[in-house]
Amino acid sequence: MQLAKSIVLVGFMGAGKSSIGRCIQRLAGLTRIDTDELATMKLGMPISEIFLKHGESRFREVETEVLRELELRRPSIVVTGGGTVLRNKNVDLLRQLGTVVWLDADDEILFERATRKSGRPLLEVENPRASFKALLAARRPLYEEVAEIRIDTTKLTHDEVAEAILKRIEELALQK
Ligand code: S3P
Repeated sequence: MQLAKSIVLVGFMGAGKSSIGRCIQRLAGLTRIDTDELATMKLGMPISEIFLKHGESRFREVETEVLRELELRRPSIVVTGGGTVLRNKNVDLLRQLGTVVWLDADDEILFERATRKSGRPLLEVENPRASFKALLAARRPLYEEVAEIRIDTTKLTHDEVAEAILKRIEELALQK
């Protein structure tokens, strides 16, 4: 598939950004870039350790550096971390990178998916459900603001979500 622009995936932890990024990479033959992976490589440690040793604010700085330094030579699939939208400058950078797609799902599904595996320091707290609720409420408007396309992933497989994204992008291109 010939894409005019990159696809940028945003959404809460557990929305399936990484897995769906891999599906799109495979289906559309795109290069995949994952900002969490780049932040991890930059500081040479997993995200939970970055939070522990340097704090969330340092992680957020590195997230911005990673986005600024991205040079996409051809349309690619860019997977972001759930909190990337928190900084205004990131929002601008995301929009410059390509078509921003918000992966959303019902709260309960998101919570279940986000807490299934470890490595998400913001949910490894005394009351993960309360944190989840507060973070999600604060962030949903930010995803909505930045994204051109929203996909409800609640009842879809990863491949179905990937196909839905590619279809919506084609439709958008036809409208322009
Ligand atoms: C975060 C989400 C994580 C990772 C970090 C912070 C967040 O990425 O960037 O733990 O603030 O929501 P995923 O959305 O891929 O879990």
